[in-house]
Amino acid sequence: MNLITQFHTEHRQVVNALIDLRQAITAREIQRVRSILAGAEDLVGPHFKFEELYLYPALEPFFGEAYGKQLLNEHDGVFRSIRKIAELAQKAEWNETDYASALANLELIYEHPISCDGLSLWIERLPAESQEELFQMMLAVRKQGTKLSEYYRERQAA
Ligand SMILES: [Fe+2]
Repeated sequence: MNLITQFHTEHRQVVNALIDLRQAITAREIQRVRSILAGAEDLVGPHFKFEELYLYPALEPFFGEAYGKQLLNEHDGVFRSIRKIAELAQKAEWNETDYASALANLELIYEHPISCDGLSLWIERLPAESQEELFQMMLAVRKQGTKLSEYYRERQAA
């Protein structure tokens, strides 16, 4: 187990959740949408927190400040879309507008884990000790268990 394999494993879990979410939204199974999002809270919270606080800064010498900002903007978009879908999932039923909005918000975030996983091409360029240090940070952040919505608030307050 190392940083790159764990990083990839987390993206695989995110892709699985997105596929489930697409099925649940398309089937208009609102309860299922809610439970998938609850699972994503625990998975994506520590993932984003590790990326933003430790991984992106470590990779910035490779991709530059502007790309770092772009990655943070992409996360902003993910927060927005997830919050919107979560809000819709509070309803007992969806009308056509709700359904279209849930699907549109899903489309906005669908590609993110694929582009994020590509960062492993840069991670490979880091010295082995740096990769190991980052891996330990990943595990430490995971242990903190910050949910996605909690991390969103931490991020706003920072
Ligand atoms: Fe990621």
